[in-house]
Amino acid sequence: MRSSPLVKDILKEISSVLGPHIPRASREAQLLLMAHLECDELWLLSNQNTPLKDIDRLYEWVQRRAKNEPFEYIVNRVSFYSEEFYIAEGALIPRPETEILIDEVLKNVSDKNAEMTFAEVGVGSGIISIMLALHFPHARFIAVDISPAAIEVARINIKKFKLQERIELRLGSLLEPVLEPVDYLVSNPPYIADDAKLESNLSYEPQNALFGGSVGDEIIKELLNEVLKRNINFFTCEMGYDQKDKITNHLKEMKYGDLEFYKDLSDFDRGFTLRKKD
Ligand SMILES: C[S@@+](CC[C@H](N)C(=O)[O-])C[C@H]1O[C@@H](n2cnc3c(N)ncnc32)[C@H](O)[C@@H]1O
Repeated sequence: MRSSPLVKDILKEISSVLGPHIPRASREAQLLLMAHLECDELWLLSNQNTPLKDIDRLYEWVQRRAKNEPFEYIVNRVSFYSEEFYIAEGALIPRPETEILIDEVLKNVSDKNAEMTFAEVGVGSGIISIMLALHFPHARFIAVDISPAAIEVARINIKKFKLQERIELRLGSLLEPVLEPVDYLVSNPPYIADDAKLESNLSYEPQNALFGGSVGDEIIKELLNEVLKRNINFFTCEMGYDQKDKITNHLKEMKYGDLEFYKDLSDFDRGFTLRKKD
């Protein structure tokens, strides 16, 4: 009978399979093995000579990673704002810059006990509504997405954080399924121009989560129009690094409220808050 391979030999083998396909192959080998074993780094380092059985699923993961499938879709896990979320194909993998959107909302609402109604357009995996619901324990959320697959991923995360009572999912486009008054609208909508050339690993992500129209900012402008029509107090939205001027001009014509832009950690313009004037 063949003996079970040791941790150190498995790591070496995975690194050599991944090496020609992705950067940082030996680190990825460790991450895949840790996810497979549900162990931490310390265990991995102190168990290099431990034999392992039942590694078929791990090798299946390695084959998928060698085809550049995102790590998060393979292990069905992603971290955002120091919390762990479920993720699967059909929902966008949360990006670190979206954490800044959460911080912006926290800056704008000083009363953490406010009993307000938030709406989110494009809930995806649910990270924005869930993080805000954790920070505002008396707020209610209506979270919309046009994709049934994304709604299902959000549903799993909302259950994981036991927020079913306060976050209601609705399938539909923009604010169409929301008839009640909203105090605060948040969104990380698709904002890339339809003809933009993207890196190959983005092909695994849902295209309707990325592309926002032939210019890219069409959905943002539709949301701005809705904010004005419905007299919503606050709107915080992520955007593309080159969309600041177009959004400023769009709002100049509408004369609504105060517009403040924020940057991401690489110093690119990344989003804005529109606040209704008193
Ligand atoms: C960039 S992803 C954001 C997902 C998640 N909120 C996040 O920040 O990771 C955009 C989301 O908007 C959804 N979407 C695209 N067009 C939409 C529309 N017209 N109405 C509602 N949701 C839409 C997509 O399905 C996708 O889940």
